[in-house]
Amino acid sequence: MRHLLDTTDLSLQEIDEMISLAMDIVDNKDKYAHICDGKKLATLFFEPSTRTRLSFTAAMYELGGHVLGFSEAASTSASKGESVEDTISMVSCYADIIAMRHPLEGAPRVGAARSLVPIINAGDGGHAHPTQTLTDLLTIYREKGTFDNLTIGVCGDLKFGRTVHSLIKAMCRYKNVRFVLIAPDELQVPDYIINDVLEPSASKYVRVEQMEALMPELDVLYMTRIQRERFFSEEEYLKHKDAFILNLKKLENAKKDLTIMHPLPRVNEIATEVDDDPRAKYFVQALNGKYIRMALIIKLLQWGGLL
Ligand code: NCD
Repeated sequence: MRHLLDTTDLSLQEIDEMISLAMDIVDNKDKYAHICDGKKLATLFFEPSTRTRLSFTAAMYELGGHVLGFSEAASTSASKGESVEDTISMVSCYADIIAMRHPLEGAPRVGAARSLVPIINAGDGGHAHPTQTLTDLLTIYREKGTFDNLTIGVCGDLKFGRTVHSLIKAMCRYKNVRFVLIAPDELQVPDYIINDVLEPSASKYVRVEQMEALMPELDVLYMTRIQRERFFSEEEYLKHKDAFILNLKKLENAKKDLTIMHPLPRVNEIATEVDDDPRAKYFVQALNGKYIRMALIIKLLQWGGLL
């Protein structure tokens, strides 16, 4: 049984196939409207979500399938003390595929060990968020036509931001990719991302505290929210909360074909005046999330012999 626990579970060829399938879905929606007839997706969200859960739900409906699940742990037996293993053992009897979000790093991996059906990690604590990364890859590919030779600025909470960790793991596998990691020192990427991901790769990276100086070199600017819920104290969060606010002034020296991305939700790290700039792609990115999740559901069901 294949699961998607982190981006590196997929080979580059499989990512290419997933992206091609998503693009075919965009162009030929009718062809896929009944491919999952009778199949059930369980969305188990032990942590808040808007886009990820709704886009998984929309994806499964558009494939002709059904969706069951919950959107908060309080309404489940987890609140009575049930373990992740037991919840997954049970749900995998009811559904053909499971998308799971959990506040604890590694929880989807624990669940996958027990599951009879494919498990998709829809975000585990501050660790990984591979379906957001597939969304980001589809967006980059549709905007740039390639993953090679790109300079990618990643800005905000690079310490706790799981979308950033998964994006770096994915993009550093392509040719001549350069990362500009923009964050205050305390919110820079964790050591394991530097030592185990970036250093062994061929990608170059720099760590900076401000975005202005290197803005003209960026092909992609990936903004992120300061992850309030993962700070140890509110005081620490308040110290960093307005660390970066992207506005039109800061974009004056940026490339004309810069792609501005954000996994959303935005708090105030992108001024709303940027939304009308043709380089702002974060809402297109959210739409791409539905198409790539449709492709992912199809592929995982096929690989598991369930479709
Ligand atoms: C992200 C997440 O949940 O990690 N949101 C999302 O899935 N699109 C980013 C965030 O919460 O800041």
